Amino acid sequence: MSNVYNVAVVVGSLRKASINRKVALALAELAPANLKLNIVEIGELPLYNEDIDGDSPPAAYSTFRQKVGSSDALLFVTPEYNRSVPAPLKNAIDVGSRPYGKSVWSGKPGAVISVSPGAIGGFGANQHLRQSFVFLNVPCMQQPEAYLGGAGTAFDDAGKLNESVKPFLQSFINAFGEWVAQHKK
Ligand SMILES: Cc1cc2nc3c(=O)[nH]c(=O)nc-3n(C[C@H](O)[C@H](O)[C@H](O)COP(=O)(O)O)c2cc1C
Repeated sequence: MSNVYNVAVVVGSLRKASINRKVALALAELAPANLKLNIVEIGELPLYNEDIDGDSPPAAYSTFRQKVGSSDALLFVTPEYNRSVPAPLKNAIDVGSRPYGKSVWSGKPGAVISVSPGAIGGFGANQHLRQSFVFLNVPCMQQPEAYLGGAGTAFDDAGKLNESVKPFLQSFINAFGEWVAQHKK
């Protein structure tokens, strides 16, 4: 039997009705058998400040670092805010990257899907995240790139995924399953 990898899923929106969260949950349903997706929450993380970090960091920092650090792979599902990465997500990335030399991101295979009701599918956030991944040593899946635009209609009022979006999400998460397996060899 092949290995099963735990994927820490980070959602860039804190909204209860977030489309990105719905996409993350849909991806968890569609994931191939070698991936187990779990959302790691970021909403309670205090804004990163070195003065409160160090020997006794806030409990929320420690919990977050433990959850991401013990995962095998990373999946980022995010909207775009002002053509870039939403502040809560950037904050989570910063929290996970410290203390210096102990980043919980380093070496874990990752992927990003950006989701927006707008036409260009959060391209700016997606690309800016990839820039951070280079420095954070996160080998990010290059293809397929995933920009889900027009996402206002991706789910019906009952929260069911639109069938027309399903193949796109399925091919993305299948490719990610292969990417993770390749990096874990
Ligand atoms: C502060 C802010 C900035 C935004 N900037 C962008 C943007 O640059 N590009 C875009 O496509 N949508 C932008 N939006 C709209 C979001 O894509 C939209 O609110 C989306 O539903 C957020 O994702 P969510 O449903 O997962 O919360 C912005 C929304 C907010 C609140």
